[in-house]
Amino acid sequence: MKLSWLATALLGAAMADALDTITAVGNKFFTSKGTQFFAKGVAYQLTEDDPLVDAEQCSRDAALMKTLGTNSLRVYHVDPSADHDKCMSVFDKAGIYLLIDLDTFDTYILPDDPWWNQTQHDRYAEVMDTFIKYDNVLGFFVGNEIIAKANQSTAAPYIKSATRDMKAHRDSKGYRKVPIGYSAADIAELRPMLQDYLTCGGNSSENIDFFALNSYSWCDPSTYQTSGYVGLEKMAKDFPVPILFSETGCNTPGPRLFDDQAAIFGPDMINDWSGSIIYEWIEEVNHYGLISYGPPVAMTATGENVKGGFTRAGTPTPVSPDFENLKTQWAKITPTGVASSNYDPAHVSTRDCPTSTSGGWLVNGNVALPTLGETFKGTFQPSPTATGSGAPSPSSTKNPAPPNKEIAGMSAGLVGVMLFFTFWL
Ligand SMILES: *[C@@H]1O[C@H](CO)[C@@H](O)[C@H](O)[C@H]1NC(C)=O
Ligand SMILES: *[C@@H]1O[C@H](CO)[C@@H](O)[C@H](O)[C@H]1NC(C)=O
Ligand SMILES: *[C@@H]1O[C@H](CO)[C@@H](O)[C@H](O)[C@H]1NC(C)=O
Repeated sequence: MKLSWLATALLGAAMADALDTITAVGNKFFTSKGTQFFAKGVAYQLTEDDPLVDAEQCSRDAALMKTLGTNSLRVYHVDPSADHDKCMSVFDKAGIYLLIDLDTFDTYILPDDPWWNQTQHDRYAEVMDTFIKYDNVLGFFVGNEIIAKANQSTAAPYIKSATRDMKAHRDSKGYRKVPIGYSAADIAELRPMLQDYLTCGGNSSENIDFFALNSYSWCDPSTYQTSGYVGLEKMAKDFPVPILFSETGCNTPGPRLFDDQAAIFGPDMINDWSGSIIYEWIEEVNHYGLISYGPPVAMTATGENVKGGFTRAGTPTPVSPDFENLKTQWAKITPTGVASSNYDPAHVSTRDCPTSTSGGWLVNGNVALPTLGETFKGTFQPSPTATGSGAPSPSSTKNPAPPNKEIAGMSAGLVGVMLFFTFWL
């Protein structure tokens, strides 16, 4: 009796660990078994509140996500004091990894008046401490779209300070090397300076482990050439760390065909990109949903799970034709990539810390990172240990700017964020 109980417990433990952990090596993600990992992901935030606490809701959603072909979710806000065991296990069993933002609404690094202090540090660390035990955590973000305009680039060193301190926290606790990255708004004027800056300077203790881009520049019908993806690829070529889309799926004019998935997972981009996260699971006013939990209701309607004109829980129903279109695209895509045993991470590039330009990138070279508790005072000092931070390579300023429509798309993403603020604060 006792033995069979033990066997069941062991089996349960083994099943709870169904997915292999993932690390970043060179510019790729690998599972602990040495298989390259590509994200076919969806952004998942049903309300402002933590979506990983209601096991029944997670189960209903996970079942439909499996039919869609999802292997990862992005969650923007979690409550570190809540119990996530059941939801994390449900998603693990469905073959789904989680990318989790460490910040909460009140610990966000602010772009115009940036600081990084102990309060933020401790809240971020709590989220990591809570989630690190789940093998299906793919990575953590130290921020999402902190920089939304060119003149906010002075917040970038604060993003690196947060990265430095969260990597130090991870390592001091002896946690696995869970990747720690940043999710960027797609700002034409800061390309490729922001992604280069976050990976420059030669000190991996301060650099992000992966870079993720929220890009809405591919609006169907479009092509690799006309969407601007050809320019994104040029900047991502042999990038020092994995790079992926952390939000994508323009919905104007619609319907969404998700043809960009064939490009991201196709021969032009597959060697440099690690997949994409589609914005977003739930249908809301911004009309980006892949599923809905019921027809729209009055904006003023209130009730259990009703807010902002939409029902926020229940049985998910696919939004047509978007859900089917994405499912069809993903069904055609089965990237194998490279086995870690055949991969030489030395093949990635290194990036110079960009020099500042008037009205453009505002951080000059490899500056000394703000210490914990430091508030921006208007200038940065050069890094005392600066090496290899010379002038940017000439090609880094010559990348063609993709077409203007991405700006509209980018603000659509921002609208999504703003809507959270409007509805939930
Ligand atoms: C961090 O900054 C915030 C905002 O100014 C403040 O409320 C908080 O007390 C600060 N934390 C510490 C430890 O100074
Ligand atoms: C930054 O740029 C925005 C336009 O993108 C402008 O509205 C704002 O005034 C600028 N802020 C500063 C401090 O220059
Ligand atoms: C790398 O960064 C860490 C964290 O800021 C620092 O402690 C270390 O001294 C740096 N290493 C070098 C060689 O500069």
